[in-house]
Amino acid sequence: MTKLKTTDLSRRFLGLVAVNKVSFSLDEGEILGIIGPNGAGKTTFINLVSGIIMPSEGKIEYKGHDITYTPAHERARMGIGRTYQLIHPLENLSLIENVMVGSIFARGNSLKVARAKAENRKSYSWTRSWRA
Ligand SMILES: Nc1ncnc2c1ncn2[C@@H]1O[C@H](COP(=O)(O)OP(=O)(O)OP(=O)(O)O)[C@@H](O)[C@H]1O
Ligand SMILES: [Mg+2]
Repeated sequence: MTKLKTTDLSRRFLGLVAVNKVSFSLDEGEILGIIGPNGAGKTTFINLVSGIIMPSEGKIEYKGHDITYTPAHERARMGIGRTYQLIHPLENLSLIENVMVGSIFARGNSLKVARAKAENRKSYSWTRSWRA
């Protein structure tokens, strides 16, 4: 079943066409990589799919819904997540509070639920074995 689909997705920055009519679809459970030289438009494409910027033309569908102009925070709640090449923790917050941020803003959890999830010991034992 198609989960994510773009049709003729384009983004221009003044005269520069950064993403030019990209059409693709991704099925449930499928993993797809995007490769291309510097400046090819990979980050711009990810920004379009996650809603950080809006397209000049084209369409984005997620789980059958048209999300072309849906704001990023709503897409996050629908299940679209992303990471950045450079990761910056929020320095004024503790480790636990940094973990809570994603739970509150992407999942809509309350402070109490977010803290309980962030403090879940199973997560830490998994992290330790992964880092070992
Ligand atoms: N906000 C912006 N304003 C103007 N031009 C931009 C903007 N963002 C990206 N561009 C231009 O769009 C083109 C695509 O850039 P993009 O960052 O998407 O490429 P990339 O494939 O991610 O490159 P890299 O491999 O270096 O990360 C580049 O020419 C870039 O200069
Ligand atoms: Mg990039």
